[in-house]
Amino acid sequence: MPGLVIVGAQWGDEGKGKVTDLLAERADAIVRFQGGNNAGHTIVRDGEEFKFHLIPSGILYPDKACVIGNGVVLDPRILLGEIDGLRRRGIDMNNLKISANAHLIMPYHVLLDTAGEVKLGKLSLGTTRRGIGPCYADKALRLGIRVQDLLDEKILRAKIRTALGPKQQALRELSVQRRKLRKEAGEGSVAEGAIEDAPDPRIDLHTMTEEHVNFGHRLEPHIADTSRLCWDVLDAGKTVIFEGAQATLLDLDHGTYPFVTSSNPIAGAATVGAGVGPTDIDEVWGVAKAYATRVGAGPFPTELEDATGRYMLEKGHEYGTTTGRERRCGWMDLVALRYAVRLNRMTSLAITKLDVLSGLDTLRVAVRYRSREGALLDTFPYHQSILHSATPEYEELPGFSADLQECRSADELPPEARSYLDYIAEFVGVPIRLVGVGPGRDQVVWLGD
Ligand code: GDP
Ligand code: IMO
Ligand code: MG
Repeated sequence: MPGLVIVGAQWGDEGKGKVTDLLAERADAIVRFQGGNNAGHTIVRDGEEFKFHLIPSGILYPDKACVIGNGVVLDPRILLGEIDGLRRRGIDMNNLKISANAHLIMPYHVLLDTAGEVKLGKLSLGTTRRGIGPCYADKALRLGIRVQDLLDEKILRAKIRTALGPKQQALRELSVQRRKLRKEAGEGSVAEGAIEDAPDPRIDLHTMTEEHVNFGHRLEPHIADTSRLCWDVLDAGKTVIFEGAQATLLDLDHGTYPFVTSSNPIAGAATVGAGVGPTDIDEVWGVAKAYATRVGAGPFPTELEDATGRYMLEKGHEYGTTTGRERRCGWMDLVALRYAVRLNRMTSLAITKLDVLSGLDTLRVAVRYRSREGALLDTFPYHQSILHSATPEYEELPGFSADLQECRSADELPPEARSYLDYIAEFVGVPIRLVGVGPGRDQVVWLGD
């Protein structure tokens, strides 16, 4: 398995962290290739919980290179906080390598993300407000600041100065617009602290430059030519895991636009975001929950706003790892999953959180949609308005009541749970190789080899 990509098959939080940790045992390098600290990947080892936002989920192995690739957008303050937190817990950070070409999330990106969401009001996307969209926008505008810029104060200052003008202008305009709207709504004139008219100290050129030079000193030992590092591992016939963040249906091009993130979380993007070739990828593992969740706004055809949805929320502890928001819950959507399987050309599936479904008499899986006009749709609609108004049609399968958390092999799973998995694998045409039955590292059932 020299090049193996792990991707989210739904709307995120499928358990990619846990699956990466498990597969990393046999890998030599683990690479994040897109996204930023909008991600929150959880690993539970011996009852101890780790939540990673930027650091690859292989970091608990002291002998494996963990790489933050060029496709990641990196908030240096958050990364340093994560490094310090892990060090305090006794985790060795020497193997953390950071691409010199990764772009930096600057304080003004975070402010712009929040200001943009506030301006959208009821139409907001529900972003994580971590500055992801504005940072990728600057990258595309060629106004971005990269990790390597932290190492040269003169260049850094010049780049911040160039980038800053349009940001201050945009923040001022957003602030004025918002105050106008509030006034119209009779809500007084107090603007939210960060985006007042007065210059915000967090986006002062000198403060930011000084602070970031200091971040550069601290990150310097980790900065490396990470593409070359991946080539060396792959060329030696060893394994690299490319750890996706977010998920297929949040993909900027192929997800439920505009309710998506600002990067490409699909498998194809691993090549660009890590600097390897398409033929370096041998396997693609998709991770899906046994049901579906979504955090943030946007279409979710199988969403349940009833007691069953509540059951999934509570039993599955469906609260965002990054923002703590309640995740919306619903039935497994096989139309969407089949789309994700093909888009990523998955070779294997990992189904997580099967344990959460125990106790439900009947399980439902969406097998097609019906459009508002009554047409049956077997494929995931590419047209936004069709998807927004489509209703799912379900197949019903028998549920199971046994607690699965102690199951460790397929024959320990109740027959109904096995039938449920078989139905999914058959429908989407990809074998399920791993099943999660609890958050712990050992709470897993391997299927096949
Ligand atoms: P990621 O973003 O895809 O890595 O997923 P998150 O870490 O955001 O969310 C997954 C949550 O489910 C975490 O709290 C995990 O500890 C937990 N989890 C992972 N696999 C399982 C499983 O099989 N069963 C249960 N009950 N929890 C799981
Ligand atoms: P992991 O890697 C779930 C969602 C946000 C919002 C949309 C855009 O833990 O699975 P952004 O801040 O990226 O501009 O927000 O994307 N989102 C996630 N949802 N898991 C994630 O990451 C997510 N990262 C972003 O909630 O709807
Ligand atoms: Mg997550």
